[in-house]
Amino acid sequence: MPARNHKQWTANPPLKDGEWINSRIYSDPEIAQEENEKIFKNMWVPVCHESELPAPYDFRTTSIANENIIICRGPDNEVRAFLNVCPHRGMLIERRPSGSFMEGQASGNPKRITCMFHAWQFDMKGNCVYVAREKEGYQDRLCKEQVGLRRLRCEVKFGGFVWINLNDNPSVSLEDWAGEPFECLRKTLDEEPLEVFHYHKAIIDTNYKLWHDTNSEFYHDFMHYHNRVTGFNDAYFARKNEAFDHGHVVVGTFEVNYENYEGFESRADLSFPHLPPNQWYMVDLFPGFNFNLRGSALRCDTVTPLGPDKVLIEFRGLGLKSDSPEDRMTRIKHHNSIWGPFGRNLHEDLIGVAGQGTTMRPDTEPRRILHGRQENQTIHDENGMRHYYEEWGRWMDRSPIAPDMPFSDRDDGSQVVNAE
Ligand code: FES
Ligand SMILES: [Fe+2]
Repeated sequence: MPARNHKQWTANPPLKDGEWINSRIYSDPEIAQEENEKIFKNMWVPVCHESELPAPYDFRTTSIANENIIICRGPDNEVRAFLNVCPHRGMLIERRPSGSFMEGQASGNPKRITCMFHAWQFDMKGNCVYVAREKEGYQDRLCKEQVGLRRLRCEVKFGGFVWINLNDNPSVSLEDWAGEPFECLRKTLDEEPLEVFHYHKAIIDTNYKLWHDTNSEFYHDFMHYHNRVTGFNDAYFARKNEAFDHGHVVVGTFEVNYENYEGFESRADLSFPHLPPNQWYMVDLFPGFNFNLRGSALRCDTVTPLGPDKVLIEFRGLGLKSDSPEDRMTRIKHHNSIWGPFGRNLHEDLIGVAGQGTTMRPDTEPRRILHGRQENQTIHDENGMRHYYEEWGRWMDRSPIAPDMPFSDRDDGSQVVNAE
């Protein structure tokens, strides 16, 4: 078919519902805001790894759906999470990205979370333990026992990641939500403690869903020279792409031939526990968390949407806590040479999603995005994305092909989308 005029360009493709979506879901500010309310405020989010707060009184700060959060390790070694918001007048209590409360500060007492504004203090369980001039100001009308921090649901699970849910009554437990997709890696990740050896973050001009799409679909391996020369054999094309409840996908394993890429080496000697040599598993959790184990190094990506066309991505690399210094250096090299900021693959993925973000800015005309490859649920099948957008439609009660239509009416959506 020759190049198309506007009417042809905006016509629906000859594919079934679910095999394409409307690009408005990547560019509409109203939809982006609604995703925070409906999805991210009700979802289990892996905010960090326990090795990033190794000692009692260590803390990290982060945010989910614009809510500021503090995570800290208590003297009892429990990891807990709270809103990083002072119950007095709403000050952001802790402004550092990470640190320790063990030592005192100019505006903070040792072993206390101190709000520098009016010096209220909290312990590692979120109890308020000190209100400055409490009796003088509040007499018997308000006491410190009534003004603790807002505690959040927090669990350490699946290889030591710290998971938070802003909803006190989540629709599903963390185990029921992600246990099945993690089954393929459970023994491997839980055999011994892991440790973060790499962290970087980037703000990318694209929609967070497009980053997750790129992590979960492998058709774009045509873009990755490294993956083409180390894979693209029969075992690669037989690699399974399996959908799980709750919108998750697992990309099954195969043996990567690292030696086929000049300068690279087998990763067999440093395989994670219970993992055959040079295998490669990937767990992609809705709505945008990715666990990618290439034999000797684990990568985890988490997304924080900052608007329809902006996403904060945090990248972590992990090895075994028991690593010798020499093994750790080798793992870091394995990780960084593919996934570091100057690695072989990462920048290629970023170019891909930034290119999509450029054509899908707010106010660009919505168009059709195709997810219709059917290859028996193997590596280049796009079932992962079809499955993901089913789940997205359920949480948002919007049809991915006609976003103004309730998800339950989606079968008729193809009629409506042309009328937009
Ligand atoms: S706002 Fe925190 S003590 Fe006043
Ligand atoms: Fe990629």
